[in-house]
Amino acid sequence: MRQVLGRHIVLIGMMGAGKTAIGSELARRLQVPFTDSDTEIEAAAAMSISEIFARDGEAFFRDRETQVLARILDGTPGIVSTGGGAWMRERNRDLIASRGLSIWLNCDLETLWHRVRQRSTRPLLKTADPKGTLAALIAERYPVYASADLTFDARPGDTVEAATLRLLDQ
Ligand code: S3P
Repeated sequence: MRQVLGRHIVLIGMMGAGKTAIGSELARRLQVPFTDSDTEIEAAAAMSISEIFARDGEAFFRDRETQVLARILDGTPGIVSTGGGAWMRERNRDLIASRGLSIWLNCDLETLWHRVRQRSTRPLLKTADPKGTLAALIAERYPVYASADLTFDARPGDTVEAATLRLLDQ
């Protein structure tokens, strides 16, 4: 992992998998820039992700996501954390493959649910049965996430630091 010079390291995976937390710790240790695509989308739109979904819809958000990813990947190589849906679009997978190494943070439903249930910021989980929605997204997405260059299996008890150190050793 430490040998990935001159390319981005792009973290993919479900909401709650730890992409932002592990990504920023990884960047700190490798002394490279860290960029979170959701944060960039919010800054460019001057709106939260929830507001974008509510006002303009998911399709609009997905187009912004692709634009922002292209811009990030054009910049100085670093660690990039993506939104959970980013890898589901072929154009995004192609962009990421051309500029970086993709790593899927693989995490089980219970761990994800434990983390995301406390926060209500994910518009896709504003359903009558958010845990069922999360499970359905897992079923749909995991076969596609599996095409990432590397898979990193999260351990439920891992701290961010422990997970980052294990990832660095891969
Ligand atoms: C989404 C995940 C979110 C955000 C948006 C859609 C998804 O990002 O991009 O709410 O489709 O799974 P995180 O994975 O960082 O929570």
